[in-house]
Amino acid sequence: MISRTLIERLTNARLVTVFTGAGVSAESGVATFRAQGGLWSKFKPEELANLDAFLANPQMVWEWYQARREVVLNAKPNDGHHAIAGLEEFVPHVSVVTQNIDGLHTEAGSSEVIELHGNIRKNFCQNCGVRYDDLELLTEHHVPSCPCGGNIRPDVVWFGELLPSTAIELAEKRAKECNILFSVGTSSIVWPAAGLPLLALDSGAYVVEINPAQTPLTRHAHESIRGTSGVVMPEIMRLLREMKIPSELSK
Ligand code: OAD
Repeated sequence: MISRTLIERLTNARLVTVFTGAGVSAESGVATFRAQGGLWSKFKPEELANLDAFLANPQMVWEWYQARREVVLNAKPNDGHHAIAGLEEFVPHVSVVTQNIDGLHTEAGSSEVIELHGNIRKNFCQNCGVRYDDLELLTEHHVPSCPCGGNIRPDVVWFGELLPSTAIELAEKRAKECNILFSVGTSSIVWPAAGLPLLALDSGAYVVEINPAQTPLTRHAHESIRGTSGVVMPEIMRLLREMKIPSELSK
């Protein structure tokens, strides 16, 4: 159930921050992590998503990410991504802060996308840090090496690694200064990202969760809407359009 309060607040908002997780891409066919059948129920993150695993067995880790890349490169933004991008029609500044590494918010047309956990479409050399963002590497079966001798790895944040500082600093700024923060499709258990909605709450923002399931954020949020991103976000857009028509006619 979407409240009238939320729609009214949206029409008056200057800055809306949309904090997203894997659930937003579920309707594009990209698996989430913690659902039954999700990535972390089939694979061990400690064997695949950390630096020690890559140093010990770079080819295995590379292959696992290539398989995920194949899914991501074939995925298209869904109605939820498009509706999040569409909020820009109504709100002067919409900032998308995502834990997703699939690039689908950018593909859907969101102007400001802050990627907290990196981007699976990009790479860098583990040894010297040189970037390798050329698309050919995305279909390379064998772990590529840099002229410096280092192995090239996906530009994603692994367990035990720090989030990119520019991304988390800007995300915290957007959480503090927004009027409304949506938390969409995230289990709200991976820190420091999970702290962003709480930071927004402390700073006086109206916090709205959209998720078919309860999360640790649910009891703190002003509203918790039980539903999927691909249904609820377009419905919010529909209600915003309905609100907008009378105000335009009255000019
Ligand atoms: P999770 O897999 O932990 O949680 C996905 C959330 O999305 C759950 O709360 C689901 O109930 C919800 N969900 C599922 N389908 C949905 C839909 N169609 N619409 C809305 N919500 C839906 O994924 P994240 O919270 O994104 O980090 O996980 C956070 C981080 O943990 C990831 O970025 C990744 C992982 O380890 C790294 O790899 C660094």
